[in-house]
Amino acid sequence: MIAIGCDHAALGLKKEIMAHLDERGEKYQDFGTYTEESCDYPDYAKKVCHAILDGQCDKGILICGTGIGISIAANRFKGIRAALCGDCFSAKATREHNDANILALGARVVGPGLACQILDTFLDTPFSEGPRHKQRIAKIDEGV
Ligand code: RB5
Repeated sequence: MIAIGCDHAALGLKKEIMAHLDERGEKYQDFGTYTEESCDYPDYAKKVCHAILDGQCDKGILICGTGIGISIAANRFKGIRAALCGDCFSAKATREHNDANILALGARVVGPGLACQILDTFLDTPFSEGPRHKQRIAKIDEGV
């Protein structure tokens, strides 16, 4: 199950992404926002992060205008590895090396076609499981 959330700036792209997930036959849960009324992206980052950390969902997609604010907010949650990607190379690398569990996208940065290709790459790339990558991820969770 994939958790998806966005702010008002990204409602249009979220709808395109959900249509793409439907085409792929993926199960997902939409945590809002549901209207174009101005809202705060950390609220939606929090809902999606909790869904992953509770085990309700195994991956997440978060979208705001730039993807920056919502990824910063998500990465405050221990166990969340949110990767802001604007290209497929990064989406592949962040799954292989970082075992990223959230893909962040900027609706004012990428168009729907590229966003869907980035998403496909993110969903279709497994974690490499290499010991050096596991060690580095464990160090992230150690904190400071
Ligand atoms: C909303 O105007 C905008 O600030 C937000 O979507 C995002 O880009 C923040 O990082």
